[in-house]
Amino acid sequence: MISYRSLRVALLGGGSVGAQVARALLEDGDELSQRVGARLELVGIAVRDVDAPRSVDLPRELFTTDVDRLILGADVVVELMGGIEPARTHVLKALASGADVVTGNKALLATHGPELFAAAEQVGAQLYYEAAVGGAIPIIRPLRESLAGDRIVRILGIVNGTTNYILDRMDTEGGALEDVLADAQRLGLAEADPTADVDGYDAAQKAAILASLAFHTDVPVEAVHREGMRTVTAAQIASAARSGHVVKLLAICERLTDDDGRDGVSVRVYPAMVSRTHPLAAVHGANNAVFVEAEAAGSLMFYGAGAGGVETSSAVLGDLVSLARRHVVGGPGLAESKHADLPVLDIGQVTTRYAVTLEVKDEPGVLAGIAGVFAQHGVSVETLQQSVVTTSSAGLATAVLVIGTHAARESALAATVADLEAHRVVVGVASVLRVEGA
Ligand code: NDP
Ligand code: HSE
Repeated sequence: MISYRSLRVALLGGGSVGAQVARALLEDGDELSQRVGARLELVGIAVRDVDAPRSVDLPRELFTTDVDRLILGADVVVELMGGIEPARTHVLKALASGADVVTGNKALLATHGPELFAAAEQVGAQLYYEAAVGGAIPIIRPLRESLAGDRIVRILGIVNGTTNYILDRMDTEGGALEDVLADAQRLGLAEADPTADVDGYDAAQKAAILASLAFHTDVPVEAVHREGMRTVTAAQIASAARSGHVVKLLAICERLTDDDGRDGVSVRVYPAMVSRTHPLAAVHGANNAVFVEAEAAGSLMFYGAGAGGVETSSAVLGDLVSLARRHVVGGPGLAESKHADLPVLDIGQVTTRYAVTLEVKDEPGVLAGIAGVFAQHGVSVETLQQSVVTTSSAGLATAVLVIGTHAARESALAATVADLEAHRVVVGVASVLRVEGA
């Protein structure tokens, strides 16, 4: 029997993910020791309430509310409390003491990443965060290591399971967003307060983390253009389906060149149409996927469970094993460089395709007038669908036009839409959806 030295692991948080990490450390300790070359000794689990019921049966003596004491003397601190404070203070304290840190806290990294990485670098500590994006899906390490010699051009991610579940059900079963959301809440799949998910905050945090890593640039979460999915209607989903598309809430990170020839990045979250032939269209239910386009590697897709205590514990344990191995053999941890320092460009500089749905008067010259507005702003029309003409109660004959465009600058499309809204023959602009993943 090999006798291993011990690494003291302090766990901050014993909730959905933390309890599963603790269970694995206790149950699979021998096996993990062999993989690491050291025993991962769980020295305690910090929680708010030591008597709260737990999803996993864990020794009561491990629980504590004294976080500072737990951190003191730990070799590795695993932060699974969530939220900004006191998590930030605890992580900084752990790093300052020289401990390595594993966290799954996207909110913390998206808002205080540079501060935490600087603190880690100052003392030569390691900071790993595979669970912060995509739950169980390995995406941070591939970007940080495997693709570190390549040039990432674009990332399209379905990084929020709740919204994907809702949009997928709307697509496959029909129904209004508020009804499907209410059902998801009843089933415990969506939070009672779904703001972070449906308004895109969660996806924006993950987009900021992915973009920072992919483009070697600090992308603060405030710089992410964010549009939630509350405005998505059953009519939009049905119209997208008719043209062979599905609507997904996407986190998009992309290299761009602006109107002045300046290189930069665009980081954005919004609901968009994706062709049913695109791999992201096949991501159903609460699953996540990250589609990466790199100059040399081409297109890659990382797919799987984006959440769940057991599933996410896999990513945390992977970080823990990997970081502990480096602790044992010495040498530098995973390096991260922000040397590119690219500007985050305004949404107006984005180039993509659009589906514009208009209600128009049904009279001669309407199509020519509408086409003229698009042409005036340099936006090229690719497809046109006209639905059956209806007559309103006021006796006005109207038609619905769905106009698909070729790729155009967002600023040109916005100007087109503004002119369409004011146009004599336009009764209303019913919707504008971007089309991504061409
Ligand atoms: P939970 O809410 O289930 O658990 C949080 C834990 O932290 C609880 O044990 C809680 O104690 C403890 N805690 C919270 N605040 C404090 C505090 N001030 N002092 C001491 N203990 C505290 O969270 P999850 O396990 O779901 O998530 C943990 C992290 O992992 C988050 O950053 C989350 O974003 C991330 N993550 C989660 C995923 C998931 O599927 N759940 C997926 C990917 C990432 P008590 O039990 O006493 O309340
Ligand atoms: N609320 C998140 C989701 C959990 O729905 O994907 C994982 O970060």
